[in-house]
Amino acid sequence: MNFRNFKMIGYVIYGRGAFNQLDEIVQPNRKAGAPMVFLVDHFFEGKPLASRVPAKGNDKIIFVDVSLEPKTTYVDQIANQLKDEFGVVSGIIGIGGGSAMDLAKAVSLMMTNPGSSADYQGWDLVKNPGVYKAGIPTLSGTGAEVSRTTVLTGPTRKLGMNSDFTPFDQIVLDPELTANAPANQRFYTGMDCYIHCIESLTGTYLNEFSKSYGEKALQLCREVYVERDGWDATADDKLMMASYAGGMSIAYSQVGVAHAVSYGLSYLLGTKHGIGNCIVFDHLQDYYPEGVKEFKYMVDKNEITIPKNICANLTEEQFDKMIDVSMGMKPLWENALGRDWEQKMNRGTLRKLYERF
Ligand SMILES: NC(=O)c1ccc[n+]([C@@H]2O[C@H](COP(=O)([O-])OP(=O)(O)OC[C@H]3O[C@@H](n4cnc5c(N)ncnc54)[C@H](O)[C@@H]3O)[C@@H](O)[C@H]2O)c1
Ligand SMILES: [Fe+2]
Repeated sequence: MNFRNFKMIGYVIYGRGAFNQLDEIVQPNRKAGAPMVFLVDHFFEGKPLASRVPAKGNDKIIFVDVSLEPKTTYVDQIANQLKDEFGVVSGIIGIGGGSAMDLAKAVSLMMTNPGSSADYQGWDLVKNPGVYKAGIPTLSGTGAEVSRTTVLTGPTRKLGMNSDFTPFDQIVLDPELTANAPANQRFYTGMDCYIHCIESLTGTYLNEFSKSYGEKALQLCREVYVERDGWDATADDKLMMASYAGGMSIAYSQVGVAHAVSYGLSYLLGTKHGIGNCIVFDHLQDYYPEGVKEFKYMVDKNEITIPKNICANLTEEQFDKMIDVSMGMKPLWENALGRDWEQKMNRGTLRKLYERF
């Protein structure tokens, strides 16, 4: 097929306090005797949001550990536990940042697909639709709320379960939930969106569809991080819509150099997505000169710390591993550098880049 016929999310609700409607929203999706399962970012354990989760009957709240990015083993463990305990569940609701949302998507799929989630890392390998799933972001930027993937670290690679069954049936965009996120974390995740925009808008896969969303998302990121002083509710509103639009932009194009390189860091060192992208993007002036200049301005203006020297003591073997992972991200390189990307990027260049982080 020449043009991608992509599956979108089902329902969207947006607005401050929209979370209060969650009970009503999930109600029609309840099946007799089968619980709704809420996978809630462990940050919220004991916090007011946890007591607002509309769990009733045999519903279950699981506070998910997102100190590490989601692993296939963790997805399998949660899905197997739910199968043992309930057999069938009505749905999986993910409440948290990109990690909690990705876990929810993956667990939903593993409730109805045999084997391990690692078997489905790739493109269009998932065979059966999952159970009902909803995503509720508490951090803005990843675009995980709209994407057709759930990024998992498996036994041999970090790769998503990309499929038409992966997008959420429902998302609840309530900017109140992102209030009070720590400034550094909010920036790293927000920059994931900014970087999506730069990579999409300068990429060779660009088309009007991606451009329309990418330009809007970029404008919103600039309003938040370049033009405004300080943080307030309006900034939360804007960044939540930036994340949505940024996700829509890459849905119909691709990400680029920053993502290709930061995947290597994350695979080897476990560097988290948002911060890894920031560490890498800071050094990509040769590829994205204007974006990097503006990025540095935003870092200074918002008084953010970007870690340094994370590759200082790596072995030859470790550099090689990162380079392998990164070079494997072919569509990303092709989007960034064109069809002849292999003439423009090689292991030596990549090695010099990694040495700078
Ligand atoms: N599926 C996709 O399309 C897609 C796209 C990009 C990234 N991702 C994935 O998303 C993950 C990164 O997501 P992220 O940047 O949103 O961070 P995250 O979900 O990993 O969370 C980062 C930290 O912030 C905490 N946190 C979450 N909400 C908070 C809040 N409101 N206040 C205070 N702390 C809060 C978490 O507990 C965690 O410690 C990675 O696993 C990445 O692979 C997925
Ligand atoms: Fe990203």
